[in-house]
Amino acid sequence: MLSKEEVIHLTDKYLISTYNRLPIIFQKGQGCRLWDSEGKEYLDFLSGLGVNNLGHCHPAVVKAIKEQAEKLLHVSNLFIIQQQARLAELVVQQAFPGKMFFCNSGAEANEAAIKLARLYAKSRGCAKPEIITAHRSFHGRTMATLSATGQEKVRKGFEPLLSGFTYVPFNDLQAVKDAVTDSTIAVMIEPIQGEGGVHVGTTEYLGGLREYCTRQGILLILDEVQAGLGRTGRFFGFQHTEIEPDIVSMAKALSGGVPIGAILAGNEVARSFMPGTHATTFGGNPLSCAAGVATVETIVREGILENCRKIGAYFGERLKDFQQKYPFIQEVRGRGLMWGIELDRDGSGVVQDCLQKGLIINCTMNTVLRFLPPLIISRDEVDRGLSILDRALARL
Ligand SMILES: Cc1ncc(COP(=O)(O)O)c(C=O)c1O
Repeated sequence: MLSKEEVIHLTDKYLISTYNRLPIIFQKGQGCRLWDSEGKEYLDFLSGLGVNNLGHCHPAVVKAIKEQAEKLLHVSNLFIIQQQARLAELVVQQAFPGKMFFCNSGAEANEAAIKLARLYAKSRGCAKPEIITAHRSFHGRTMATLSATGQEKVRKGFEPLLSGFTYVPFNDLQAVKDAVTDSTIAVMIEPIQGEGGVHVGTTEYLGGLREYCTRQGILLILDEVQAGLGRTGRFFGFQHTEIEPDIVSMAKALSGGVPIGAILAGNEVARSFMPGTHATTFGGNPLSCAAGVATVETIVREGILENCRKIGAYFGERLKDFQQKYPFIQEVRGRGLMWGIELDRDGSGVVQDCLQKGLIINCTMNTVLRFLPPLIISRDEVDRGLSILDRALARL
């Protein structure tokens, strides 16, 4: 076994430094807890950036992966894949009637959504389709999805960008209406912006968008890569508003930790993808989909959404108490178990301090502390984590 220093040395030497990695090497995870190479225990309030919604190594997911791995790992989409069909059925049952396409990540899911929307628009005579997205949005790091992303820092350096995107302020229906042209084919937004600092789309905004898009014949694409799969207390974030998008993208938590991405599109829109128009070798392979089936079945059957709503409400209350206590907290935002605390200063020191005390959180947009704990978290674990946060905030 390599020493910690050796692993860090190999990382520095052989991995392109696209990440500012913390010098911690996790060896084991269970539920909301992780253990590093020195045996130190951590409470995980980040879930691998919104992936481990069922906690680490959920027994149902591990069992499904083990069983599938012993039978068949991969065959390609030249053949019918039982686990893929079953996973699609399960997701559709939780969402709305339509059809799915499987890929391997959130960015790929949004790529698929953008390509599908463009094909659909072309079939209806639109030559130069444009998509409206929101300021502070995050849709991924591929060329199409970073072009769609409403954050200058994500796009910078990668010009020329893919054309056909217009950015407008989030939660502002009038801004969308003002930006629509004859070429607009879709509005693409996150129902709750995650990377952009945990901003919740209001009911009026999402409901108004749905109504306006339908009236104008524009597609509504919702990026639920972070908010989906129970994170906000409903299976999808849009279900708080009781609307249905034309296309929804998902990834992260869909397979409990195995890479996957997907879109679900209404039947009419889905027809624009035909054999030869879109594909990916690994998309929806038996292993990732077996893990996905176990994940979705567990979310639906084991009261995960109820726990998320109940514990999430408590979590939010506790954070709001901190706002009373610490004047440097500007705002507390969130829903379910997706929360952010906006500070009036840089939050990276708090993240480091929490980490040192055994709590994993994250800071986005420099000033927003973000919390994405596993949805199975107990009240006791919330209390333990937040008492660490309290101590870290007190030191600011
Ligand atoms: C809303 C949203 N969309 C897309 C992505 C990109 O997903 P991935 O990193 O799996 O490509 C993310 C990742 O954080 C996200 O939060």
